[in-house]
Amino acid sequence: MKALVLTGVKQFEIQNLPTPEIAPDEVLVNTAYAGVCGTDHDLYAGRPGSAAAVPPIVLGHENSGVVAAVGAAVTNVKPGDRVAVDPNIYCGQCDYCLTQRPELCDHLSAVGVTRDGGLAEQFTAPASVVYRLPDNVSLKDAAAIEPISCAVHGVDLLKLRPYQKALVIGDGFMGQLFAQIVQAYGVHQVDLAGIFDDKLKRNRELFGVKNVYNTTRESIPEESYDVIIEAVGLPTTQAQAVAAARKGAQVLMFGVGPQEAHFEMNTYDIYKKQLTIQGSFINPLTFKDAISLLESGKLDVAPLISHELGLDEVQDFLEGKIKGVSKAVVKLGD
Ligand SMILES: NC(=O)c1ccc[n+]([C@@H]2O[C@H](COP(=O)([O-])OP(=O)(O)OC[C@H]3O[C@@H](n4cnc5c(N)ncnc54)[C@H](O)[C@@H]3O)[C@@H](O)[C@H]2O)c1
Ligand SMILES: [Zn+2]
Ligand SMILES: [Zn+2]
Repeated sequence: MKALVLTGVKQFEIQNLPTPEIAPDEVLVNTAYAGVCGTDHDLYAGRPGSAAAVPPIVLGHENSGVVAAVGAAVTNVKPGDRVAVDPNIYCGQCDYCLTQRPELCDHLSAVGVTRDGGLAEQFTAPASVVYRLPDNVSLKDAAAIEPISCAVHGVDLLKLRPYQKALVIGDGFMGQLFAQIVQAYGVHQVDLAGIFDDKLKRNRELFGVKNVYNTTRESIPEESYDVIIEAVGLPTTQAQAVAAARKGAQVLMFGVGPQEAHFEMNTYDIYKKQLTIQGSFINPLTFKDAISLLESGKLDVAPLISHELGLDEVQDFLEGKIKGVSKAVVKLGD
């Protein structure tokens, strides 16, 4: 099978690899689509994502496909099933796993990070992370289930109520997912801050966003929001998120900043406004919710998937040579 192998820092090779073998509890998947994201950019550049990737390795952690074969102990899927695969595999035995916080697992492994992933014609995964797709969810949209499931985890960590006014900062793929998801979770108003007029306009016209702020020329109203989701990961946007918080607000710090970055905030505000500043890491047990958001039509990702790439274009994408990308997926089969 054809695979894009990360052979070193910023080094890719397309190789012909043997079909991977499966253990009794594993599934072999014919890849349909593999989404690529900022995490792949970090892994490609030699920085860790949710965990470190050690070359040679096949990246691709946002995968959909069709089951090719199953091990003898697998009961939840069968050959021919259309599936999406949660990349994250937890040990089930550490303190965090035993206290229902598996995302913090001390021995996290992941398809497309610590074991070969979906930037290949086939890949394997334990059956416990393989989810069958409803008929009305396309394999292409299904490549977005992993990022959606990360957003669902972030939303799960907030206490959302219908009276709240929410602000999403960031008009990238994740920010645009959040703009829709917080509405699906019942918040009555969501506003969006970003830097691209066309994306902001689309979110007002298609996705029910009320007010938009292009922060290259407009400022975000301060002390105005009950829920703020920061989905960029820069110190400036993190500071904007806290500044936008009214009394009692919850701020979700979802964006991933550079490892050495810090942002500044007024410490008295935390006390006086009784703020909650909440981090969010990956996607524990949120795949079912992510799939249901697509199945129900409450979340529309098709307009956000701007690019369908071949394996030979992934390096150019990660080098920033492909412009105007909202979300890119690599097509391997269908
Ligand atoms: N916590 C998690 O589990 C998790 C999961 C997935 C992604 N993330 C992080 O979420 C962030 C967003 O992901 P993404 O895929 O949308 O990223 P992305 O690659 O699309 O980039 C971020 C986007 O933010 C927007 N942006 C840039 N500067 C901005 C500014 N000053 N104000 C407002 N918007 C600005 C741009 O539209 C840009 O495209 C990243 O930091 C990513 O690493 C976190
Ligand atoms: Zn990703
Ligand atoms: Zn564990």
